[in-house]
Amino acid sequence: MFTADVRKSLRFIFVFLAVLVFESPTLIAFDSIDSLTKYVDALPVPRRIQADSELLISLSMTKRRLHRDLPETMEWGYQGESPGPTIEVEAGRPLTVQWKNELPPAHPLRLPKGADVISPDVRAVTHLHGADVTEDNPMDRLHNNDGWPDAWTVMGETQIAEYPNQLSARTLWYHDHAMGTTGRNVAAGLIGLYEIHDDLERKMNLPNGEFDIPLILQARGLNPDGSLFYTDDIMNEFYGNVVSVNGKIWPYLDVEPRRYRFRMLNASNARSYQLKLLDQIDMATPGPPFVQIGSDSGFLEQPVTPKRLIIAPAERMDFIVDFSSYDGRDFVLQNSSRDPGENEVEIPEIMLFRVRKKLSQPDTTSVPDRLREIVRLSPADVSQTRRIIFDQMRMPDGNMMMTLNGLGWRDAVVERPVLGTSEIWELANTLTDVHPFHIHGVQFQVLDRRLFDVEQFLKTGEVVYLGPAQPPEVNEMAWKDTVRSLPQMITRIIMRFEQHPGHFVYHCHNLEHEDMEMMRPYDIVSP
Ligand code: C2O
Ligand code: CU
Repeated sequence: MFTADVRKSLRFIFVFLAVLVFESPTLIAFDSIDSLTKYVDALPVPRRIQADSELLISLSMTKRRLHRDLPETMEWGYQGESPGPTIEVEAGRPLTVQWKNELPPAHPLRLPKGADVISPDVRAVTHLHGADVTEDNPMDRLHNNDGWPDAWTVMGETQIAEYPNQLSARTLWYHDHAMGTTGRNVAAGLIGLYEIHDDLERKMNLPNGEFDIPLILQARGLNPDGSLFYTDDIMNEFYGNVVSVNGKIWPYLDVEPRRYRFRMLNASNARSYQLKLLDQIDMATPGPPFVQIGSDSGFLEQPVTPKRLIIAPAERMDFIVDFSSYDGRDFVLQNSSRDPGENEVEIPEIMLFRVRKKLSQPDTTSVPDRLREIVRLSPADVSQTRRIIFDQMRMPDGNMMMTLNGLGWRDAVVERPVLGTSEIWELANTLTDVHPFHIHGVQFQVLDRRLFDVEQFLKTGEVVYLGPAQPPEVNEMAWKDTVRSLPQMITRIIMRFEQHPGHFVYHCHNLEHEDMEMMRPYDIVSP
């Protein structure tokens, strides 16, 4: 009674159902990433490269398992790895890196709605975040020290960048910075660490070698089939659904009962964290504290113990954890960032530390009471005070644009600080969210934050403060290159331009905002 065609389709449906029944255990097991077993993968430590004077690093497609029970994930990486290798240099020794673009012409992530369409779709340029670099010609794509956003390369091209490394010991990081696609390129995996070492650091007797471990936190968008996803609308900041640490999600690290040094980087596009160690058996019992010794631009003046480690995108926190009196116990790195954006899912657990290893040798390390001297810059010495207003506006095409002083990336340079002078920048955040603000070519200190009347300000341009100025957090009393500009507040930073003249950029390090042009060029000019 059935025609041959119908019979054929019935057979097809039957086979399909059979496959579904027999295959379903694996299919349903990971219909949701949340059902993955936590803490089954050991924390990887990115390969270290002791760089001397020259280095060739490729940007390419790579494949790796982000979790034991997931298929391989196609990512982008440096030297076939994501995060890329940790590049280690000695202070004062210049390094030239050839960043060779071998990225295939199809992007693993879709261009989100509302994003500028720029051709070619696959383009990349590497920036060393926090570095001191000399002037380069912004339009010379192939000699591009700072990673000028418009000077991207395509497959087969190489960006040559010189890093003088005239900086004290600190943790920098490299990542993609290509105009309009930074968020997508970073979410695909283009990140890595860069450590500068010096004698002062070595004299400190801090944990080193295998006891000095990077913790690179990155929010990822992971599908159950192992593929990555990105935000589908550039207006929705990318928070992802998992957090990888050094490239694994929910990893564990077995440690000895001794001191460790951890260099934490938040390489997430938009997600911030508030972190603490808690006993895994009784999550009300705190674990050992984070004794913070460094931040974005090197050591603090003295160690501090923040109650929770608050870390915004692009910030670095260098801290010591002493596990010596916790033998046999397990501690969860717990994230209580309870201020999710509209499309942000909470991720309360990040990784596990298990104090399970035997002490391999007596721990003779120590944490000095004083780490280095930090001279506070004085507002009395500044030659300019500038205001940077954080705002957004709707464009004639209906798309939103995030702006700084109402301007975008293509608008002419306004700020031309003179080399050798100091300035205060007042970051006036009229919006309702935190914007991690970063300036290239300079380091700064945080002066204070103060609530102001935004409505009044937007109407008249007049600043009316609504409360007293609040001092920076204890771990912000350091040299920094990224600062949290808090909503409805004016955050004041002070800096002295003393590295090199040249064309630089400042921007919001929320990468979707950056791609929506919350980024401006500026020049440091010779006196
Ligand atoms: Cu982390 Cu302009 O960059
Ligand atoms: Cu922003």
